[in-house]
Formats: sequence, structure tokens, C-alpha cells
Amino acid sequence: MSYSEHHQAIRDMASRFSNTELAPLAHEIDKEARIPKEILRKLADNGFLGIFIPEAYGGAGMDYVSYALVVEELSRGCASTGVLVSAHASLATWPIMRFGTDEQKAKYLPKLASGEMIGCFCLSEPNAGSDAGALTTVAEDRGDHYVIRGVKNWITNGREAGLAIVFAKTRKTENHKGISAFIVETNSPGFSIIKVEDKLGIKGSSTAQLAFDDVKVPKANLLGQLEQGFKIALATLDGGRLGIASQALGIGEAAFRYAKSYAKERVQFGAPIADLQGIQFMLADMSTKLAAARLLILDGSLKKDQGKPYTKEGAQAKLFASEAAMWITTKAIQICGGNGYTKEYPVERHFRDAKITEIYEGTSEIQRLVIAALELKS
Ligand code: CAA
Repeated sequence: MSYSEHHQAIRDMASRFSNTELAPLAHEIDKEARIPKEILRKLADNGFLGIFIPEAYGGAGMDYVSYALVVEELSRGCASTGVLVSAHASLATWPIMRFGTDEQKAKYLPKLASGEMIGCFCLSEPNAGSDAGALTTVAEDRGDHYVIRGVKNWITNGREAGLAIVFAKTRKTENHKGISAFIVETNSPGFSIIKVEDKLGIKGSSTAQLAFDDVKVPKANLLGQLEQGFKIALATLDGGRLGIASQALGIGEAAFRYAKSYAKERVQFGAPIADLQGIQFMLADMSTKLAAARLLILDGSLKKDQGKPYTKEGAQAKLFASEAAMWITTKAIQICGGNGYTKEYPVERHFRDAKITEIYEGTSEIQRLVIAALELKS
């Protein structure tokens, strides 16, 4: 697959960073279930936290194709770091760029680009996962401000976040119609972390349950139009899904590379196992799935950069890349055999990290619903 010189240079830069700064720490990040602060600083210094934020607001001013390449490369080195960047950029930064007022952009984008604030996206709740429109968090109008009350679940970056995009009902409705979006600073009184989840994979990335106990939010922090919050959430997730597809691709690529080099070195029956057709077929299918995922991500990202609709392409990229990552990491363990099942080898981590990509930012089943609905409409 050949990218433009510009995009190849960005990929090379992210790849070097991933190889030198992330991959050597990934095992420890997984074990300690925490990304060192130093890594956050280095991500910011290299422009990765503000990839597509315009330069006028302190960002790198790049396009979504570049962003997808960066998330892929970072995730190849460390999937936890990859999703920290992805959730921060596509779920918290992008909606401010797209729906924010000039004042909101001037106030928050420089802080998000520099890493002074890490962002998170608060849509899901204990009883509103796939059925996001069923959320029950409320935002009461109190004249010059709103008061937000509710609990949010499975929030990526919930532990680190200084800024949260919060979805709450400004009008009581049975469906999504009364939902509005808000920019909330997490140092506001009433905000707290109820718990940080202990997970199967992406252990360095925090996934938190957050409480909003009468959090006062200025009217100026309403994001977009009143009661347009659900559409803002879904439009944001369209781009987020390209980020998760890229994360899945990076995880799959890491597992593939490891399994390939292992197969060339591991000798059984007097020859490297890579000589066996059974192993070659697995490697061939891995390589093909990665190539297909890369094309789907590129297609969605290009459409997004060109201002064309990309909801279906984003869902297809995430669906395919995440299921490919799960398949590839399973086969990578198979190729590495007993060794692959131990924590001494990285493929068991890749396998655990891959699973979540089929779940967050819309399960594979939700992606299929989105794709089918758009196909049936056309
Ligand atoms: N962009 C903008 N608007 C959209 C849209 C899109 N991609 N898709 C639909 N809409 C609009 C519709 O036109 C409709 O508008 P009207 O009210 O004017 O009719 C409105 O949004 C509602 O659409 P639907 O009737 O299709 O909505 P629904 O309630 O049936 O739900 C769904 C559709 C696809 C199932 C949706 O709820 C969904 O995507 N669910 C999954 C939620 C999800 O991905 N959650 C992940 C949370 S984030 C996370 O996991 C990680 C983290 O860090 C927090």
C-alpha cells in the first residue's frame, strides 16, 4: 500500500516513536495498568495529542488520514497508549472543533493540543450502552448555568481527563430527542471517579465510572445546539470508529509481525515452522486481512477529509479491522504455541487488547446495524 510522501513521513515518525518510546514499555504498562506521565508529555511534545487541531490553536494541523496512521503506529507499540490518543482526539477534541463556538475553541483546543487537558467522552451509562439514547443523566437549566446529575460508565481516559464531553437530558423524553452536549471541566465540584475498571486488556488505559453530582456548568459550555446532543454524539462516534479501527489494525500488525518472525526462527521437525504450509496459510490470511483493513480505514478517512459522508465507511472499517485483529491475535498465539500463551511473549497481550475493539465505540453488532440501515436506505 503506498501513501503520499507526506503521509509516509508521518507514518515513519510515529513508527519511530512507537518502536523506541512505547514498545519497550508496553509489557510494563500492561502489568502496572498505568501509562507513565512521561509518555503523556512525549506524546504532546511530538504533536500526537493535537494531530488534527489547527495550528492556530496549537495543534499539528494535519488531516484524518495522518491521524489514523498515527493511531495505528502508536497502537502497534502499545494499544493502551493508542486508545488514550484516539479517545482524546476523536471523541473529545473533534466535537469541539466541529460544533464548538469560537470562544470554546480558543479556550479548550490549545489545552487539549498541549496535553494540559486530556479529554474523555461521557455518553454511556450503566443502563445505556448500545442503546445510547436511553441515557438518564439530566442537565437542569438554572438560568445562567446548568446542573448535571448522573452516572457515566466505561469512560476511556476517565482517570486522566481534565475535560469531558458530557451528554445529558435537558428535556425529559423517552428517546434521544432531549439530549444536549456539554463541555465539562473535571475539576468542577461534584465531579468524582467512582471506580476505575480492572479489565482483560488495554490495561494501561483507564476505563472509569464517573459521578456527576450536581455539577455546575456555565451556559457558555453547551456544545452545539440545545437538544442536538444525540446527533453530536453519533457524528463524533463516526470519526471515533475510524480511530478504533486504526487501533485494531495496529494491534493486528504487531501480532502478525511477531508471529512471522517467530515462525521463521522456531525449528520443529528439523526445519523452521514457517516452511510448513499450515503456518504459511495463517500468515497469508493475516497479511490479507491487515491489507483490507488498511484500505477500509483509508477510504473512510479520505472521505472524512474530503467532507463526504463516511458513517458507513467508518462502521465498516471498525467492524472489519476489529474482527480481523481478534482473528489475527488468536492465530498469532496458535503459531507461537505454548510460548504464545505465556506472558513472556507479547502475543497474549495483543490478544487481550484486541477484544475490546469489537466492543467499544459501538459493538460489532451495532456496526452491522449501522451498515445495514444505510445500505437499505440507498
Ligand atoms: N450522525 C449524525 N446523526 C445521526 C447519525 C450520525 N452518524 N446516525 C443517526 N443520526 C440521527 C438520526 O438521523 C436521528 O435523527 P432524528 O432524531 O432527527 O430522526 C437520530 O440521530 C437518531 O437516530 P436513530 O433513530 O438511528 O437512533 P437509535 O436510537 O435507533 O440508535 C444506534 C442508533 C446506531 C443503535 C446508536 O444508538 C448507536 O450507535 N449506539 C451505539 C452507541 C455507542 O457506540 N456507544 C459507544 C460509547 S463511547 C465508548 O464506547 C468509549 C468511551 O471511551 C466512552
